[in-house]
Amino acid sequence: MLRKLLIGTMLGSALTAGYAASTYAAGGSVEVLHWWTSGGEAAALDVLKKKLESQGVTWKDMPVAGGGGEAAMTALRARVTAGDPPTAVQALGFDITDWAKQGVVGDLGEVADKEGWDKVVPTALQNFAKHDGKWIAAPVNVHSTNWVWISKKALDAAGGKTPENWDELIAVLDKMKANGITPLAHGGQAWQDATIFDAVVLSLGTDFYKSSMIDNDPAALGGEKMVEAFDRMAKLKSYVDKDFSGRDWNLASAMVIEGKAGMQMMGDWAKGEFLKAGQKPGSDFVCIRFPGTQGSVTFNSDMFMMFKVGDDKKAAQLTMASDIESPDFQSSFNVVKGSVPARTDVPDTAFDDCGKKGIKDLAEANSSGKLFGSMAHGYAVPAAVKNAMYDVITRHFNGELDSKAAAAALVEAVAAAKG
Ligand code: GAL
Repeated sequence: MLRKLLIGTMLGSALTAGYAASTYAAGGSVEVLHWWTSGGEAAALDVLKKKLESQGVTWKDMPVAGGGGEAAMTALRARVTAGDPPTAVQALGFDITDWAKQGVVGDLGEVADKEGWDKVVPTALQNFAKHDGKWIAAPVNVHSTNWVWISKKALDAAGGKTPENWDELIAVLDKMKANGITPLAHGGQAWQDATIFDAVVLSLGTDFYKSSMIDNDPAALGGEKMVEAFDRMAKLKSYVDKDFSGRDWNLASAMVIEGKAGMQMMGDWAKGEFLKAGQKPGSDFVCIRFPGTQGSVTFNSDMFMMFKVGDDKKAAQLTMASDIESPDFQSSFNVVKGSVPARTDVPDTAFDDCGKKGIKDLAEANSSGKLFGSMAHGYAVPAAVKNAMYDVITRHFNGELDSKAAAAALVEAVAAAKG
């Protein structure tokens, strides 16, 4: 009776929202592998967990900590090799394609067709959520990496004006240093170095980002502009504190939240941490595009890739996929996560100013041909090439290579990874 009532209420509210979602099953269970273990990430994941639980679907959690998801992908490999994949796995871009090629992923066609995903999910995401024309993953969000998160108090103390180009950025960082705080909160992990690198390369031009990060043109990878990109990375390194090495990204966010640091250059999952700490955009923190990149977006989209499961698990898997893609979930989840919806028809009403800006920037970048996959987060190149780039970027960031040597090493590393 209670179950019937619950389903009735849910269907009722889904229909009011103009959407007949989650009609697949009540009951069953989903095992979900993910790396959403920080405060903000866990709060967002809870929105999904609760939604499924309200439908009687049991959530078996398989968290594998580690921003960017490298450790999660290693754990996944072990499970697939053992012939026991989870129901759903948080995954990014080319990793999804790689798994699809191995023939282990499921088929979401039934729910995607019924709910018209083709019409509402942006093509840039469909390129990864579908393989050989089949839906294999449910996109949860769109994040992007060319953001800077600034403490309002630290910015005011540094003159109050948000930087719009590289020189203005350096001027603000210098003032923050003079004011006695760590100007740049950063965690020295390869994926975090690479996240800043995405933005720095983009700040030197959209054509340059495309030719180097997407097309991997050796002339762009090893040219003068790349040397300049590495010079900019070295300059940014001079603003991090001495304990940066190995620090998790959310602890770097905490430094800005607590006023110990001035800013963090990070994807918009950082906003989830600020919100979780009770901070408000505009009054406690400020979000800007990395100076010089306004108008362009380097995106990554978290998707739940679905694995082949037995008939006993299929209904719960389809329920999860349907829930994820429903417009009301896309709004309530992304408001907490810091990301923006993975469909084009979700109103921005519930989003704060940074979220509204994220939605607008994404639409604009998409229509002007300035939307690019993030290299750091698996949407520009396959994992082997990405890891080769990570290695060079991190060696340079840690002072093992100068900028010229790094540009040359990038050409070689990418060529070797491509085989
Ligand atoms: C990204 C992911 C985000 C966020 C971040 C840090 O790769 O897309 O959702 O979780 O890692 O963990």
